[in-house]
Amino acid sequence: MFPVEKFQGVRTPFYYYDLQLLDETLRQIRSNMTEEMHLHYAVKACVTPKVLSRIAGAGFGADCVSGGEIKAALNAGFPADKIVFAGVGKSDWEIELALNAGIFCFNVESIPELEVIAEIATRMDKTARVAIRINPNVGAHTHANITTGLAENKFGIDMQDMETVINMTRGMRNVRFVGLHFHIGSQILEMDDFRALCVRINELQDRLEASGIRDIKNINVGGGLGIDYQNPNLNPIPDFASYFRTYRDGLKLREGQQLHFELGRAVVGQCGNLVTRVLYIKSNAIKNFCIVDAGMTDLIRPALYDAYHSIENISAPASDETMCYDVVGPICESSDVFVKDYDMQPTHRGDLLVFRSAGAYGEIMASSYNCRQLPMSYTSEDL
Ligand code: LLP
Repeated sequence: MFPVEKFQGVRTPFYYYDLQLLDETLRQIRSNMTEEMHLHYAVKACVTPKVLSRIAGAGFGADCVSGGEIKAALNAGFPADKIVFAGVGKSDWEIELALNAGIFCFNVESIPELEVIAEIATRMDKTARVAIRINPNVGAHTHANITTGLAENKFGIDMQDMETVINMTRGMRNVRFVGLHFHIGSQILEMDDFRALCVRINELQDRLEASGIRDIKNINVGGGLGIDYQNPNLNPIPDFASYFRTYRDGLKLREGQQLHFELGRAVVGQCGNLVTRVLYIKSNAIKNFCIVDAGMTDLIRPALYDAYHSIENISAPASDETMCYDVVGPICESSDVFVKDYDMQPTHRGDLLVFRSAGAYGEIMASSYNCRQLPMSYTSEDL
């Protein structure tokens, strides 16, 4: 599956994106969406230019959380009117940038933010389209660091304040209310979690209608669909059919209402891999350490979320014999460990290992801690 010979002369570590798999993933997304559905790819997952422009080229929109992401999305060819802009802390310059670009809407996360957007839009003589991000207090079965839809999280506006905020927008001349926004978390594999969000949205829509609010043109349910980190070869493409069906069956959309999604991980997670070279095998009485040239600076997910990425040795011949390793990086931190007690074929200095399922929140979260060079990236068109 990986072009091992072509990898040989390339400096490690580097990210490698399989564009064929990305294309097939985009095709399956498209084929499971109905006419009223719109996908805004969550740019935060991966901004590698060739990946980004591929997604734009497939006709999808972008979900951005900073001015930098808006610029990256525009550069990659996403039309401004398909860009949504979320985040609890939008700076004035970012709001100005978004207004100048003419984005589809701001996902507003607080009353003070709404007031600032209104003020800046008035000053610039522009109209800001806003969706109100509601914190639905719906839990998700995922890691605590990536759950967002609980009252204890910093995201969104409390359900109890919903009518007040929507009615506030009525009095703002340069603000237009266009819908509601939700997002409950990331790496969610249980459709019941999304079903629970649908139930909550249905309740909220009924409540809003009862209070006379009937102009909700757009419902944005965020992202969150997970990928199979355990078996990337078996399940290279998430079950989009079940995902979109869950919303189609669960949500009581009103006439003409448009349904928006902000998937990130499910779009790019499986097409990206981190390729690294084994530097040393070091053994003591209780452990074999496989020390590689990639570290938590290149892929921080294991250190930050106890995340699992399956590892393939693409240099050593397949073998029935296995040995047990802790695969670790070179960074001066005890948490710079990719996996503990991992069974692999006997592995040697110089072997290439691939960390699978690293397309989302991999390269983009890299840092230069320890004065490390940021990882390079290549696609299947480059190598
Ligand atoms: N929409 C909003 C408002 C979000 O906050 C996020 C992700 C998404 C959409 C996209 O979620 P996705 O479909 O990718 O699950 N760095 C973590 C994930 C952080 C997710 C942050 N928000 C990780 O590596 O697991």
